[in-house]
Amino acid sequence: MEFSAAPIGIFDSGVGGLTVWLELTRQLPCESVVYFGDTARLPYGTRSPDEICIYVREILTWLQLQGVKMVLMACNTSSALAQDLVRTEFPDLPVLGLILPGARAAVTTGRRIGAIATLATVASGAYRRAIAEIDPLAEVWEVACPEFVPLIESGRLHDPQLIAAAERYLAPLRRQQIDTLVYGCTHYPLIASVVRNLLPPTVTGIDPARYLVAAAERELEALGLKRSGAPQATRFCVSGSSQQFTCLARQWLGFEPPVESILLPQI
Ligand code: SIN
Repeated sequence: MEFSAAPIGIFDSGVGGLTVWLELTRQLPCESVVYFGDTARLPYGTRSPDEICIYVREILTWLQLQGVKMVLMACNTSSALAQDLVRTEFPDLPVLGLILPGARAAVTTGRRIGAIATLATVASGAYRRAIAEIDPLAEVWEVACPEFVPLIESGRLHDPQLIAAAERYLAPLRRQQIDTLVYGCTHYPLIASVVRNLLPPTVTGIDPARYLVAAAERELEALGLKRSGAPQATRFCVSGSSQQFTCLARQWLGFEPPVESILLPQI
């Protein structure tokens, strides 16, 4: 088999990475995919940087064993905290994260930029740094939204508790009159309708997933690894119970993919 026919690995702590997967099926339908959701250990956003690096090391090792040609970190927390690990421990594996594509897209639409993300992503300052490097005049306000991921993962996408939390999280960004909002966690586009209702219609929402997949396409072309031909399938795998993942996939994607429960290698 040609290496270009090898799958692309996508991983997240849970269902959030499906926002990246969906974008990939739109932009690169001829690629086969191995999707991994670390549902046994979510949420990542309240974990320490060391824990996140251990998880990313295990997942990348497992994805390499599945023969992937490239990995998309469809998890902002991992993208924010594991870049150095990826460079030093997996130098031969193309691994792309969300921060740089998201930051590049944000500066094209405004200079008063809000970023909503997990506690770990906000504490890392990854979006603030990436945006400052591209446009030092841009102002950035980052807000951690720890209540979102557990509510989204339990399927409560329009729950009053979620709406109340969103009101609290977005109030400071409204006060700062942001013109751009980065969805700095892949789970958050699943509640975009709630978020949009709480911001003026002039605010441009940036979902980094779209720009990550565009960057992946450029990288595949540069490496001569872009696959063409017929649309390909995805293998969905999780570390915890497959039931909740399947339920959410049905609720959000409108179909129930077969989901495998797998054991990651302990390193
Ligand atoms: C989480 O598991 O807390 C969310 C992961 C992300 O940052 O996308």
